[in-house]
Amino acid sequence: MIQYIFRFIPASVSLVWVIVSVSVLLFLYFQLCVLNRREPPGPRPLPLLGNLFQVDLKRLDQSLFDLSKKYGPVFLVNFGPKKVVVLAGYRTVKQALVNQANEFGNREVTPIFYDFNKEHGILFANGDSWKEMRRFTLSTLKDFGMGKRISEQKIIEECCWLIEEFDKLQGKPFDNTHTISYAVSNVLSGLMFGKRFEYQDPLLQAIVNRDNETIYLTGTASILIYNMFPWLGPWLKNWKALMKNMETGKTDLNKIIAELKDTLDPDTCRCFVDVFLTQKQNLKENDDTHYHDDNLLYTVMNLFAAGTDTTATTIKWCLLFMAKYPHIQERVQEELNQVVGSRQVCVQDRKNLPFTDAVIHESQRLANIAPMAIPHTTSKDVTFQGYFIKKGTTVLPLLTSVLYDESEWETPLTFNPSHFLDKEGKFIKRDAFMPFSAGRRVCLGESLARMDIFLFFTSLLQHFSFTPPAGISEDELDLTPVVGFTLSPQPQGLCAVRRQ
Ligand code: HEM
Repeated sequence: MIQYIFRFIPASVSLVWVIVSVSVLLFLYFQLCVLNRREPPGPRPLPLLGNLFQVDLKRLDQSLFDLSKKYGPVFLVNFGPKKVVVLAGYRTVKQALVNQANEFGNREVTPIFYDFNKEHGILFANGDSWKEMRRFTLSTLKDFGMGKRISEQKIIEECCWLIEEFDKLQGKPFDNTHTISYAVSNVLSGLMFGKRFEYQDPLLQAIVNRDNETIYLTGTASILIYNMFPWLGPWLKNWKALMKNMETGKTDLNKIIAELKDTLDPDTCRCFVDVFLTQKQNLKENDDTHYHDDNLLYTVMNLFAAGTDTTATTIKWCLLFMAKYPHIQERVQEELNQVVGSRQVCVQDRKNLPFTDAVIHESQRLANIAPMAIPHTTSKDVTFQGYFIKKGTTVLPLLTSVLYDESEWETPLTFNPSHFLDKEGKFIKRDAFMPFSAGRRVCLGESLARMDIFLFFTSLLQHFSFTPPAGISEDELDLTPVVGFTLSPQPQGLCAVRRQ
């Protein structure tokens, strides 16, 4: 029948039909592509400024968490001219960082972090150099006992020094910020340089205090603005302070590295730096090697910067929660009395201390010290939950929205160790406990940090009770964080009162 009809239609008309049909098909195909390339939703941006007036730069993570309630788990905000995709909620963050680890696993190198690292080291590097430095660092630190018995002994030794230091204060109120950072830094120093410093050593104090200041300054509003408009740099006080910190930091670490170089014996490597230098010597002839002085310096700087403030801040939050909730502190101490008694606590004890373990996990959850992880970028064009995200787009995995996810936690905004306990009081792991992030860029020092926090916290609670200073009630202790690149407790005096 159709053949019969076509026999009577002139050839020119059939050609028109073909052209029209092909055009319609092409139109539908492109429409489909546009639909597939749908950008995530988000607040309408202003030209040049983007959504700067719709977010609170002083508490960006909270502000983005609020926006996620309106726009959903994948949304787009414009920081100045730059598009940023925000991932919110446990399911979405996990789906991106773990299930699509390669697509979401590159690091965003913002102008300030480019100034710091020039894309060397681990934290703010990508590609083959990052891969090699991350692999080498993980395996070398493991060889030196990271997360194993050898580092346990080193941490225990450091706990004794810290307890001695707290004892000197005889229960008077003090800001524990510096002392705890020195102790944590010494554990890293043992691994990196094979030595510990006295807490009064000006070099240790300079390195730690400078790092703390740097981490605070990098999270300030003026540096967020610098990242959008880098030409503003020389006019910004915080940027100038950061550049100065960076230069003096490099000089100090280069001095320590030079001493190790002068006394290097490749047959008996004492520490991470020795292993790196030996590797560098062995690969001398190879032009393409990643084992050069810049990678050594920036990797060491990265580990101190990423490892000291984060761990020390977490321990400080744990102690503040104990002072704020004395009935919980008493339960931890009772459990320690029953299981450990007066001997030195060790990692093996952890499995017999479910309540204490739950308190540590709950402190980390509520403290939420790295609220936006460290920004990622997409390594290729990707379609995610139906939205198109272009290669190279900045992605913020909003850890605040994971650690406070209402569909995962029974009471997300209150301190509640039961989040990590079953009905019989046994410790339970929770998938949405993600303070170290997840996937390809997951924290490299997680096992060391977990050991540090457990041993320092339990050793301190065996010897001391933490209380507010006289005249201040528990209710008056302030849990509002100081916002920098990490969230840390307000500097407020706590008393470390000796237990009998
Ligand atoms: C409580 C302590 C710590 C917390 C909460 C923490 C948290 C984090 C987070 C959230 C990230 C970003 C992950 C991402 O981009 O998705 C990270 C990365 C990193 N952390 Fe930690 N961290 C801690 C301790 C440490 C320690 C002790 C070290 C060093 C020994 C360390 C070394 C690093 C490094 C090198 C990276 C960058 C990894 C990469 O880009 O490949 N961290 N950490």
